[in-house]
Amino acid sequence: MKPVYTRIAGTGRGLPDKILTNQDLEKMVDTTDEWIRSRSGIERRHIAADNETNLDFCELAARNAMQAADVGPKDIDLVIVGTTTPDQVFPNMGCLLQRRLGIHGCAAFSLEAACTGFIYALDIADKFIRTGSAKCALIVGGETLSRMTDWTDRSTCVLFGDGAGAVVLEPAAKPGILSTHLHADGKYADLLFFPSGVSKKPKDFYARRDFIHMKGSEVFKVAVTKLGEIVVEALEANDLPPEKLDWLVPHQANLRIIEATARKLKMPMEKVILTVQDHGNTSTASVPMALDVAVRDGRIQRGQTILLEAFGGGFTWGAALIRY
Ligand code: ACO
Repeated sequence: MKPVYTRIAGTGRGLPDKILTNQDLEKMVDTTDEWIRSRSGIERRHIAADNETNLDFCELAARNAMQAADVGPKDIDLVIVGTTTPDQVFPNMGCLLQRRLGIHGCAAFSLEAACTGFIYALDIADKFIRTGSAKCALIVGGETLSRMTDWTDRSTCVLFGDGAGAVVLEPAAKPGILSTHLHADGKYADLLFFPSGVSKKPKDFYARRDFIHMKGSEVFKVAVTKLGEIVVEALEANDLPPEKLDWLVPHQANLRIIEATARKLKMPMEKVILTVQDHGNTSTASVPMALDVAVRDGRIQRGQTILLEAFGGGFTWGAALIRY
């Protein structure tokens, strides 16, 4: 039997219309455009309106990816949505998305691995396709981090944004996804977290209003180390020297973290896809949205070799080497 590989057949993204600039934030908290740009590279971010939810952006991203891949609802036989901000606990976001798109009967689930969720979803879907369990997978990373942000805390509220990115995956005779690499270490749980859950009973349930907590500079150090390690791991697994890479599509958390990873690979910044200035940190949506931006503006071309990487709460981190 001939081996089956996975290829990306189409990409898409969905963003709220509302844009919050650094100048807008200067009016909300004690910060400056200069501080935000120099520490993070962020200039603006999209924020969901009160009547919008994560599912709206996931649906838009999915429709765009399905159109790009030229597939319809009947073709899709696996739906995975990476998210930490689901519209509701259940039905899971995969099922809610199925209903919006008119997809019936196939497996559909949500996956929570913070900013690395999309890479985790890609890894799982790749295994479904290579084992013949799926023929057309819809993978989405979507977040409304604005809904778990403390808008009075300048150390976090300047960093995050909302949106969703999606890909459609199909079987192929040649790879496609060359390799995926997933890691996690729960010992870092206290450096970056959102404390509320359904099962953990708070002292005063009705007074509860939780937000993202982050020890920024400590997260920064671990992120630089782990991302430096994982990009090398992905290249070594494929015996690929860094100069053969056409593009790095990194998690868009912080320009300085991205620059450190590019330095590790000795890659010029011209070969790095950057959306952090426009989107901020959209967690699991950031990699598929950046991929879609570069596919649609013509920088990423068929046949090119691309390294995706992400790092987030957990900590979780992961990479995927792809021949687009
Ligand atoms: N405006 C002005 N000053 C600020 C702001 C702000 N918005 N925020 C913090 N400061 C101040 C601090 O109070 C501190 O002042 P002090 O020295 O008087 O105490 C000073 O700026 C420096 O603060 P640091 O936190 O040390 O700044 P740092 O250079 O580390 O940058 C940042 C902060 C941007 C958060 C950085 O640490 C970072 O990007 N960390 C990693 C974030 C990340 O990658 N997260 C991963 C994934 S996110 C997820 O999974 C959801």
